[in-house]
Amino acid sequence: TYGRSPGPELRLKQGARLALRFDNGLSEDSAIHWHGIRIDNAMDGVPGLTQAAVAPGDSFTYDFVLPDAGTYWYHSHNRSWEQVARGLYGPLIVDEPEPPAVDHDLVVMLDDWRLFEDGRQAGDFENRHDWAHGGRLGNFARALLPEDVTVHSGERLRLRFINGATARIFDVSVSSLAGQVVALDGMPLRRPTSFDKVLLAPAQRMDVIADVTAASGEPILMEMATRQGPYELGRINVDGQAPASSHGEIAPLPPNRWPEPDLDKAIALPLVMQGGAMSRHRVTGGIWSLNGQAGMGEAPFHRFDRGDTAMIEMRNDTAWPHGIHLHGHHFQVLGKDGQLGPLRDTVLIDPRGRQTVVCQFDNPGKWLIHCHMLGHQAAGMKTWIEVTS
Ligand code: C2O
Ligand code: CU
Repeated sequence: TYGRSPGPELRLKQGARLALRFDNGLSEDSAIHWHGIRIDNAMDGVPGLTQAAVAPGDSFTYDFVLPDAGTYWYHSHNRSWEQVARGLYGPLIVDEPEPPAVDHDLVVMLDDWRLFEDGRQAGDFENRHDWAHGGRLGNFARALLPEDVTVHSGERLRLRFINGATARIFDVSVSSLAGQVVALDGMPLRRPTSFDKVLLAPAQRMDVIADVTAASGEPILMEMATRQGPYELGRINVDGQAPASSHGEIAPLPPNRWPEPDLDKAIALPLVMQGGAMSRHRVTGGIWSLNGQAGMGEAPFHRFDRGDTAMIEMRNDTAWPHGIHLHGHHFQVLGKDGQLGPLRDTVLIDPRGRQTVVCQFDNPGKWLIHCHMLGHQAAGMKTWIEVTS
């Protein structure tokens, strides 16, 4: 199955070792990043930081252990704003030792494309106007399922939504399902929450376990709202009735390893986003900056000792939303009530908004922090941290 996008679904068991050789068949450099995996730094796939870019015709062997069960994905991390938009990504699913009982376990990849009338993709990947605004949005969007799947009324589904778009925040309503959100960004929720819609910044994921309430013949519709009305992203056909359900309650997934952070010892750091259209600040050397710097500096945003806990106040001083991703770790968003929220690897921050995240830096190496609106990243919104062991 060469020549298809998304790339193949990789599915392994928790604790398994993934070893594969990446052959670069492109006419330009590339590398693969394993998004959300608490990975060995040398395997993180970031050219210039964790490895040399893989030249055309060259290979690189990725070989690492998958510590956490959940929904992850892989994507190019070289000129990602173009290579990801052109389709270089795919799902990486890590199964629990004993996965919850469902009738169908389906990856739903969300993406959009900027297409001409004849279906070709527009080539303006480096459109600085887009980069200074919300990023390069497509005019055609889909929720891609791995196959033409048909389900029965009453069946239990696990849907793994992944936002693979380079800029679009997907806000998707899904009809005819009753169930729970059981994981975000791969990590199980301690307490599942009731499922009402899918809201994902680029690179974020949501796992839903839900029962089909549609009658036979009535599809499950996935739609997003547009100015012209509801836009159908995809559907799952419902045909026939499952025998009386024996599923019972939807239970939380088994948690991944996560020591409680010690907030009293946390290092407080600000991370300030500036720039873009309608900005009050000038940015030099790019369109966007983090703490006054556009692009990767010589010095990291911070050097942590292994085991440090940090409380990073992310302040969005711009007129645009940003989805900030940290490599190699998950973090928790501090709620207004002072409680730590679910573990995430990418956090959406509203225009002029702020979010405080708490992270335990326990994975040694050099790790990127960047906006996953990939044009924003290209235009400066990225930095890095180092964890010394
Ligand atoms: Cu999914 Cu640095 O990215
Ligand atoms: Cu951004």
